[in-house]
Amino acid sequence: MKKKLVSLLTVSAMTMSMLVGCGSGAADTATQTAETVAETATDVAETATDAAQEVADTATEVAETVTEEAAGSGDLADKKVGVCIYQFADNFMTLFRTELENYLISQGFSKDNITIVDGANDQATQTNQIQNFITQGVDVLIINPVNSSSAATITDLVVGADIPLVYINREPDADEEARWQSNGWNVTYVGCDARQSGTMQGEILVDLGKEKVDLNGDGKIQYIMIEGDPENVDAQYRTEFSVKALEDAGWEVEELDDQVGMWDQATAQQLVANSLSAHPETEVVFCNNDAMALGALQSIEAAGRKVGEDIYLVGVDALTEALEDVLAGTMTGTVFNDHIAQSHGAADAAINYITGAGNDYYIGCDYVKVTTDNAQSVLDSLK
Ligand code: GAL
Repeated sequence: MKKKLVSLLTVSAMTMSMLVGCGSGAADTATQTAETVAETATDVAETATDAAQEVADTATEVAETVTEEAAGSGDLADKKVGVCIYQFADNFMTLFRTELENYLISQGFSKDNITIVDGANDQATQTNQIQNFITQGVDVLIINPVNSSSAATITDLVVGADIPLVYINREPDADEEARWQSNGWNVTYVGCDARQSGTMQGEILVDLGKEKVDLNGDGKIQYIMIEGDPENVDAQYRTEFSVKALEDAGWEVEELDDQVGMWDQATAQQLVANSLSAHPETEVVFCNNDAMALGALQSIEAAGRKVGEDIYLVGVDALTEALEDVLAGTMTGTVFNDHIAQSHGAADAAINYITGAGNDYYIGCDYVKVTTDNAQSVLDSLK
């Protein structure tokens, strides 16, 4: 570009000097004019070169930014993630949040930009924490609600602040999920279907055969049920579907007791101690999770009973201790609640919102039935 401009202006200068004629005064004027034109040509050419360089620099910068954004992870280090856990003092959610943090870091987030807070099982506390995250301007929120029934309020708060939202572990109800879709909001749920875990608990017993499980041979299965937080759909469905699986197999059932253990080992230990002394005819103890099954086992052993011989015990989650009990025969079975797939799924969903890829409104995951047959391989997979 510079060359073309210089030669064009030089040619015009020469032409001018020729046109001016042969007189010496005229010739001097022509030469001066030609020189002035040539200098101007050089200045213009230099200015053009500088401008061209600036354009090129800007283009390079734009290209670099676009490439970084497309690469995604280069950019995640600056993004802020807020994570609300309903309660830190929950064995399963502790596994979940530890894996979630490690995986977010492995995907390129900076540890300093991941803030995980404890709702202490109190919705007012959690709502406050959500408001603080909004004020801080986090780029995405991952929320394990204290009360699933507060989901609509939480969604309105977060969507109102234009922050994408990933619900985990406690599934909001169908009406709430339908609202995300009909409004096209950046809100999703990552988790498993609790009906499946309940069904698997029942199937573990059905697979043993009725002759074995009906210890007193009265044609009915006498059971006690220890529930998690009844506000939580996992507790509701596991309670319903574990028993339904027995009924679907044509087994008659008799509920001796149904108590709320709030997912907690010590609470369940106390409840099962009371139930067993009131109902020594208990054949099956269903616990909505493993923490409570571990508490139940303490009371079963304290009552001088033996799992697999004069009582059966099932849980959900596949905590390491529960898997060891399944292998030792001190628990009949459990159901693997895949915290690895769920935490990775939640982090991936958060990333998809940040990069603009977006997500489906429901991201599911499967439970796995665990008995002595596969407890070791599940244990190995968790190491
Ligand atoms: C369940 C899990 C329980 C408890 C609960 C909390 O999925 O099985 O152990 O963590 O979530 O909502």
